[in-house]
Amino acid sequence: MTEFAFTAAERQAVYRVISERRDMRRFVPGSVVPAEVLARLLHAAHAAPSVGLMQPWRFIRITDDALRKDIHALVDEERALTAQALGERAEEFLALKVEGILECAELLVVALCDNRDVHIFGRRTLPQMDLASVSCAIQNLWLAARAEGLGMGWVSLFDPRRLADLLDMPAGAEPVAVLCVGPVPEFPDRPSLELDGWAVARPLPEFVWENRWGRA
Ligand SMILES: Cc1cc2nc3c(=O)[nH]c(=O)nc-3n(C[C@H](O)[C@H](O)[C@H](O)COP(=O)(O)O)c2cc1C
Repeated sequence: MTEFAFTAAERQAVYRVISERRDMRRFVPGSVVPAEVLARLLHAAHAAPSVGLMQPWRFIRITDDALRKDIHALVDEERALTAQALGERAEEFLALKVEGILECAELLVVALCDNRDVHIFGRRTLPQMDLASVSCAIQNLWLAARAEGLGMGWVSLFDPRRLADLLDMPAGAEPVAVLCVGPVPEFPDRPSLELDGWAVARPLPEFVWENRWGRA
C-alpha cells in the first residue's frame, strides 16, 4: 500500500464493480437511462487510456426506432450464420439469448475512427492497439454502468461493413460493438454463458506463468 492508495471502502467498491459486472442480455422493457447518467457513462468511456493518446473511439447513440430495428435485423442474420458455422452446437447456440437490442433503454454503437494510419506511436508493429484502446473505453463504460445499477451487453454479432453503411460511416471507420445499456431485472452472479451451460470460465492460475510460456 502506498500513500496514493484509495481508502479501504473505495478500494472495495472498485473490486466490487469489477467482480459484479456482467454481460447482460435481459433488460426492463420501457425503462430509461436519465440523460445525466448517460453523460457520466460516456465521460467514463472517454477517460480511457489510448495508444499514443489517439482516442480512436466514436460513440453513436441510436435514438431512431427504425434504425434500432435495422441493427437488430443485422444481428439476427449474423446469429443465424454463426449457428450454421458452429455445426453440431447450432441448436444449443440458437437457444441462448445473445442480445437485448429491442428491449434495452439505450443502444450505442462504438466504432473505430477513420484515418487511423496516421497514428504510428505504439502501433507501428501492433496496429491492433487501436482496437485495444476502444476496448478500454468500452470496459470503462461497462464498469460505470454497473456502478450506476445499469446493465450492459456487448454485442459483436454483425457484419461490420453493413453496419458501417447503415450508419453512414466514412471509409476506414469500423464498428466494433453494439452496446445495449439500461435497467435490468437482476444481475446474475456468474456469466450467462456459464449459467446456460455453454462454457465454463477457467481459474486464474491456469493463465499466470513465470519467465517462460507455460511454466508455472
Ligand atoms: C469483445 C466482446 C464481444 C462480445 N460479444 C458478445 C455477443 O455478441 N453476444 C453476447 O451474448 N455476448 C457477447 N459478449 C459477452 C461475453 O459472452 C461475456 O463477457 C462472457 O461470457 C463473460 O461473461 P461476463 O461478461 O458476464 O463476465 C462479448 C464480450 C466481449 C468482451
